[in-house]
Amino acid sequence: MRPRIVVTRKIAEPALELLRETGEVWVPEPDRALPTEELHAAVAGADAVVSALHDQVDGAFADAAGPQLKVVSTVAVGYDNIDVPALHARDVVVTNTPGVLTDATADLAFGLLLSVTRRLGEAERLLRARTPWMFHPRFMLGTGLQGKTLGIVGLGQIGRAMARRALAFGMDIVYTGRRRADPGVERELDARYVTLDELLRTSDVVSLHCPLTPQTRHLIDADALATMKPTAFLVNTTRGPVVDEAALADALKRGAIAGAALDVFEKEPEVHPTLLELDNVALAPHLGSATTETRTAMAVLAARNAIAVLRGEEPPTPVRS
Ligand code: GLV
Ligand code: GLV
Repeated sequence: MRPRIVVTRKIAEPALELLRETGEVWVPEPDRALPTEELHAAVAGADAVVSALHDQVDGAFADAAGPQLKVVSTVAVGYDNIDVPALHARDVVVTNTPGVLTDATADLAFGLLLSVTRRLGEAERLLRARTPWMFHPRFMLGTGLQGKTLGIVGLGQIGRAMARRALAFGMDIVYTGRRRADPGVERELDARYVTLDELLRTSDVVSLHCPLTPQTRHLIDADALATMKPTAFLVNTTRGPVVDEAALADALKRGAIAGAALDVFEKEPEVHPTLLELDNVALAPHLGSATTETRTAMAVLAARNAIAVLRGEEPPTPVRS
């Protein structure tokens, strides 16, 4: 019998083609984020699920699918929405899509950083409001990056790609994380391993690239923000809950830090109302990996992961527990 493959969001056509060669593919019509009840009904009888980062994938999800479920393949690098131990306990393989979105996400992080430091959003709002203006030597001065220190929290693939971009802009790199990077990586990036406290105290830009885990939830809280320099910027392109968003909004409003560049939010799609009022914040609606090329590559990798497991093979990028 051909396997039943449930794809919870409409993904790039080349990936759907691959899946259709392997099994009976179901995609929601119209495309939308399925609420939990509908999601559970949709996955019933599935041998494979290709999921999205807003799907809550836990024991109840796996039980709703049934004992034939072999793989959950998320089209994302982050898998904080997946209860991996609960799935592994049911012999379900979990896979994600690392690597293929590294450059796109680092590009977006650096672009948002430039947007806030050079006040691009604020400048565009000024023009669109048809505010009278004229070139002026002290008009809308921003902050330069050359010679400044970038502090990277989590020197994984995306953190390293961010560091490479920062090096090209003449920045110095410090980093922190669960463990020290290989000496070769430190040499390539001229990066110094420091404690989180030292990173927060000394960085002109703090950029978050760690996954969301119980250990990193609210890693950047009111205390961490108070430790940062008043001239420093925070960049978050990982997951919203790594930052206490209310504390961040308060710090930005008081000028306790200079600004923030945010692609992710604590309760997506909601954004803390104070952030929407402030000019020292650059905002994007979770677009880190959102290029046509990257989303296609992610979808194809997710399809390959699901197909490999259905064939009894080792998938290219499994999540280990
Ligand atoms: C996007 O946020 C991802 O985890 O891929
Ligand atoms: C892996 O792709 C990472 O998040 O660093």
